[in-house]
Amino acid sequence: MSKTIQNDVSYKKYIIDNNLQYFKPHSTKIEKSFADEIHSGLNRSSKYISPKFFYDKKGSNLFEQICSLPEYYPTRTEINILKNLKFDLPNYLKGDFRLVELGSGSSVKTRLILDILSETQKKIEYFPIDISEILTESSEMLQKDYSNLYITGIIDTYEGGLEFIEKYDNKKNLIIFLGSSYGNFLPEEGKIFLKRINSTMKKEDLFLIGLDLVKDTKILESAYDDSQGITSKFNLNVLSRINDELDADFVLKNFKHLAKYNEEQQRVEMYLKSLVNQSVIISKSNLLLKLKQGELIHTEHSHKYKISQIKELMDKIGFKIIQNWLDTKKHYALILVSKK
Ligand code: AVI
Repeated sequence: MSKTIQNDVSYKKYIIDNNLQYFKPHSTKIEKSFADEIHSGLNRSSKYISPKFFYDKKGSNLFEQICSLPEYYPTRTEINILKNLKFDLPNYLKGDFRLVELGSGSSVKTRLILDILSETQKKIEYFPIDISEILTESSEMLQKDYSNLYITGIIDTYEGGLEFIEKYDNKKNLIIFLGSSYGNFLPEEGKIFLKRINSTMKKEDLFLIGLDLVKDTKILESAYDDSQGITSKFNLNVLSRINDELDADFVLKNFKHLAKYNEEQQRVEMYLKSLVNQSVIISKSNLLLKLKQGELIHTEHSHKYKISQIKELMDKIGFKIIQNWLDTKKHYALILVSKK
């Protein structure tokens, strides 16, 4: 076992017990602060707030609620595909694999994969990677239910976590990135991210990614504009977060949630539409934001794919597709790849 990363002074190690430990960098690479990103995203003609800012505590709870909405098909469709994988995935897992999850994920999905691994492995190592300490809560819950589970949580960016895994040891990894989170990247950023995963992987490693597929516009738009208004609350919550954390004075009733499918770009785009001419002070971003009635703030892209495009993308990045699994309606795909 390589000594480098585990004794790396840039990480602090927290040993909770025999089966549970966390690594956290003393400091993450200097990222632009929330205040700076809000300043640069809103101080321009086409206004933008990155979707990564949705996920404060309230936003994460609202996202959990979205996942069980009747209109939001991705979560339950992915879970159903995963349930069926118990018959098929083991055919591709020769020998023991460590499970590496990008994003600590909903425990339902993690559990389904852990159950599959438990069928053939006495001991399972699970390495969730998440920037949020929320990872510790989900890890402790899992630990209660799986006595054969050894968890090493990495509280870091995906890039940091991948570098950690790369240097850790030579065991085989099954890396998973579920929930179609990949769809929230801009295409160029996404390719860089996939290349990083590819360069981290060894020949025998596997990567399982969940991707949402192109489908009828009505189905897509109602998934992102549900009848109970939860997605609207989720979108508007980013303004409350800016009010609370950046000392701003957004009046939420002056904005409307909007979700539109852009057929050409193959993505659902979410916006916050200003209902009036207004000025908003965002003190900690040092910004006086002026919005005209009808002006849009872009808050999210959620890309949808065709299987042929996924194949082309994976090939370009340097992945070989081993298998893909779709639901019967062909709404969603799980793709298993290895390094070419
Ligand atoms: C997290 N991500 C994959 C979700 C999506 O479908 O793009 C976020 C979301 N936004 C609105 N509803 C769900």
